Amino acid sequence: MKYNPKAQTILALETSCDESAVALVCFEQGSFHVKANLVASQIDEHAKWGGVVPEIASRRHLESLPLLVEQALVQSGILIEEIDAIASTVAPGLAGALLVGSVTGRTLAALHQKPFLGIHHLEGHLASVFLSKEPPKPPYIVLLVSGGHTELIQVSKNCEFKRLGRSHDDAAGEAFDKVARLLGFSYPGGPAIENLAITGNPMAFLLPKGKVSRPEGGFYPYDFSFSGLKTAMLRQVQALKSSSSKLPLEDLAASFENIVAEVLVERSIRCTLDQELRTLLMVGGVAANKRLRQRMSETSLLNGIHLYMAPKSFCTDNAAMIGAAAILRLQSGVTQSSINLGVSPRCPLDQANCLYEPNPPF
Ligand code: KG4
Ligand code: ZN
Repeated sequence: MKYNPKAQTILALETSCDESAVALVCFEQGSFHVKANLVASQIDEHAKWGGVVPEIASRRHLESLPLLVEQALVQSGILIEEIDAIASTVAPGLAGALLVGSVTGRTLAALHQKPFLGIHHLEGHLASVFLSKEPPKPPYIVLLVSGGHTELIQVSKNCEFKRLGRSHDDAAGEAFDKVARLLGFSYPGGPAIENLAITGNPMAFLLPKGKVSRPEGGFYPYDFSFSGLKTAMLRQVQALKSSSSKLPLEDLAASFENIVAEVLVERSIRCTLDQELRTLLMVGGVAANKRLRQRMSETSLLNGIHLYMAPKSFCTDNAAMIGAAAILRLQSGVTQSSINLGVSPRCPLDQANCLYEPNPPF
């Protein structure tokens, strides 16, 4: 086979929270190909404690990563010598968990003399759309909806990010998780609410949309707040419990899911149109939600907006998206991160370029 100088193969690791993930992603003939994509979830273990225990997460990443790397190589049939670069998530996330993925990636890179790229976790989510058949071209707006973030981001060209909107309290995924717990379901709450909502009436309960006031008057048009909605759900459940024996779980779930979808769709479309853009992306764990995908598709179509959604299988945390982000970085001219690059639990997406500075800030 003829060598194609533009082909790239990346070994990618993701360990920012409670999923140990390893993937092999190639860029060939103008498109992205996932050759292996393995995720070892720790959800069951953390569920016993009612949330993610950082110490347990780090230990499980340490145990899982070597096996996952070996399995990914075997599954893909790719030899480590054929890999062009190694990428690990380095921010944001749980510091100890990030360290395991970062040290593993840097060690493999040093051992096999490959460049190492530290990747911003949210940049990974944004890149998940490139794993679909038809990748988007900037400029565009991205709605990033996960368990930790709800943001509207403007991308003027690949790897150039500007945040235009954010949640002032809970992320949308966090709201799904807390409301699911209120209704008696364990983490992750999104899929549980989605299943319940299928047979529920989305108009059964009137719920608030959560606007964020500006100090000078009016509201931030692209910002979100889910804490009022969470409290309204709590009050509704308390009132229902005192007056009836059985909670209408399906109607509660459908009404909650519906109002979250409505808010996310309204503000994303408004943001895209206000910036005079015609392309919108939707990524992150909550982007897997069927009602949200449907409503976003319908409203985008009505407004002449071209919508790209991450494939459902790449919405929740995975390493294939980290591999895709690394390929986009290489294509933007970055060659590697400094071997001194550490990890950071907090780092806004619009500062992701610092991961490629010769003297990174962490
Ligand atoms: O992107 P992700 O895997 O992790 C973070 O980076 O946060 O997102 C996890 C979040 C959880 O809050 C989970 O409840 C939510 O995504 N989620 C969903 C669905 N699947 C996962 N929310 C609504 N509907 C779903 N189908
Ligand atoms: Zn994530």
